[in-house]
Amino acid sequence: METSAPLDANPGELALAPRPDHVPKDRVIDFDVYQSPPAGMCPQRMWFEMQANAKHPVMWTPRNGGHWIAMTPELTESVLSEWDTFSTKVVMVPREPMGETYSKYLPLPLDPPNHFEFRRILNGNLGAKSIARMTEDVEELTAALIESFRARGRCNFTTEFAEQLPVRIFMRVVDLPEEDLPKLKYLADQFTRPDGSITHPEVERQFSEYIGPVIRARRGKEGTDLITEMMNGKIFDRPITDEEAENMCIQVLIAGLDTVVNLLGFIFSYLATNADLRRKLASDPSLLEDAIPEFLRRFPLVSNAREVAKDTEFGGVKLKARDMIMGSTILVAMSEDSNDDALEFRLERPKRHFYIFGKGIHVCPGAPLARLELKIILREWLARIPEFRLVEGEGLSYLSGIVSAVSPFELEWDV
Ligand code: HEM
Repeated sequence: METSAPLDANPGELALAPRPDHVPKDRVIDFDVYQSPPAGMCPQRMWFEMQANAKHPVMWTPRNGGHWIAMTPELTESVLSEWDTFSTKVVMVPREPMGETYSKYLPLPLDPPNHFEFRRILNGNLGAKSIARMTEDVEELTAALIESFRARGRCNFTTEFAEQLPVRIFMRVVDLPEEDLPKLKYLADQFTRPDGSITHPEVERQFSEYIGPVIRARRGKEGTDLITEMMNGKIFDRPITDEEAENMCIQVLIAGLDTVVNLLGFIFSYLATNADLRRKLASDPSLLEDAIPEFLRRFPLVSNAREVAKDTEFGGVKLKARDMIMGSTILVAMSEDSNDDALEFRLERPKRHFYIFGKGIHVCPGAPLARLELKIILREWLARIPEFRLVEGEGLSYLSGIVSAVSPFELEWDV
């Protein structure tokens, strides 16, 4: 059963899907992944509460075309990693128009063995060894950006820092000019948290219009940036086509432009409001070794979906081929089955269960870059601005979506 949304509809405008016959009444909840949490509640708490109140391990919501949601860490893991049952052909709700449009962007919609051929190109360029070579660049950019506003005693953390740094670093990885940043960031955001300002086909058209000439100009050229390596890469011993390269570039841009920015928002807003932790980390940077995995556990942000590939019994209910099911990385870490006192930030935990970077063959190839950035940013910021707080009177508000976020916020400090 599907909604017949017009192609240019934005998710929030979709009508509620009628409950299909195979969805039992007691499996229905009202959950809209694009609906921001109540004032002051972070998306991780929202998932925590939804899971705590779920009556069954798999629930169904009529929002966004109607889809299932895995409610336990084990089932979420299955959804994300069992690719022959839960296909990545469509990874976003609603299926139309976003999910089906997004399914062009490689390598996410591919299964083995095709997936590996494309993934190999990314693994080489974004792998730990290549990324380690960027250390000095990242350190320099980080220090320079912090120094650009330090003496002022205040900054808009989101727009002046978090949206600048990872994105500038990323623009170096792909060797694209910094002045194109605002346009690309805007387009990437429309995939993960559409704001209704532009239709989906238009986002797609603008992305393609931008990246098409760039990739064609790099084929056969020398260079170590990701796009040139992609253009010179081989898929089963044949050259990658322009169309494939374009679709892989767009995937990397969407995945790389939004995620680190938002993770930083969660971490720094938390540090601004938790003086004990902030002081501990500033006075003993070696504690970052424990703090970083705990930040990654406490602030997962991606909630992707899958298309059910075949009729399947799952979590005590029958799923039908072509149903959509969401597997949220947030839910995994926020489950009390995975982590005691899951909402608590704890420097020391005997074990942590989380996969902010996903699970299975599609696990994030950008993870080494994200980890390097996080380590350097925390170290350089705390060394330069150890004491900081939210600007007085400013409350935090959060956005939910395929990638969750903290709304822009300002920080201040004494100079
Ligand atoms: C904190 C930062 C990041 C987080 C939390 C994150 C999270 C994720 C997750 C959960 C997935 C799996 C999605 C799924 O299974 O449906 C994924 C895949 C992916 N990510 Fe990331 N990501 C981050 C940074 C990056 C960066 C910096 C890049 C690029 C430079 C990137 C590129 C990709 C790509 C291309 C895929 C698809 C991989 C495939 O299909 O094999 N990500 N990411």
